[in-house]
Amino acid sequence: MLIRSEAPADILLIDALLKSVFETDAEANLVMRLRENGCRTLSLVACTDDGEVIGHAFFSPVTVAGQETNWQGLAPLAVREDHRHQGVGLALLAEAQATLADFDYPTVVVLGDPNYYQQAGYQPALKYGLTCSWPGTEEAFMVLEVVPGSVKQYQGLVEYCEEFNALA
Ligand SMILES: CC(C)(COP(=O)(O)OP(=O)(O)OC[C@H]1O[C@@H](n2cnc3c(N)ncnc32)[C@H](O)[C@@H]1OP(=O)(O)O)[C@@H](O)C(=O)NCCC(=O)NCCS
Repeated sequence: MLIRSEAPADILLIDALLKSVFETDAEANLVMRLRENGCRTLSLVACTDDGEVIGHAFFSPVTVAGQETNWQGLAPLAVREDHRHQGVGLALLAEAQATLADFDYPTVVVLGDPNYYQQAGYQPALKYGLTCSWPGTEEAFMVLEVVPGSVKQYQGLVEYCEEFNALA
């Protein structure tokens, strides 16, 4: 397996992957819109040795309490069903963390299953005074400190790019 940055030829393959993994096309459409609108900070694909795209992770900027922060939101993360439970998702998260650190992106937030993301070092965001605008997500909203000490720099409401509003 190879993990690398998205190339133009991957765009339709990612679209197909997201449409197959999620119940609706919302995530696939979200990624298309974020990319078109210049909100792609990092888009990683996991590929088999034959070059098939079997996993994807996308990062876009977020603000905290209305401030520009360089913090990133992870969404979506997806692994093709027939390649799950082989460490592909965690490998994507580890590679993303290393790449974001290289470019000095200090912090990542994610809304997802805490049992899963804690394996990649994510912690409950509420512990650091961080919330997101979706109701009932106190436990599922998590944060990863990429650059040590960065999480404590901001508190308050984390807001994703406006393209996410179409998901609600
Ligand atoms: C969540 C997802 C990306 C995990 O991908 P994966 O490559 O199977 O994950 P990994 O193999 O790296 O996971 C390692 C461990 O995480 C845990 N884990 C895996 N999937 C999990 C899930 N959906 N929920 C909770 N824990 C999970 C398991 O302990 C797993 O170990 P195991 O294989 O020994 O049981 C994948 O299930 C997926 O694409 N799901 C549908 C889309 C989705 O829900 N994305 C997340 C949106 S926030």
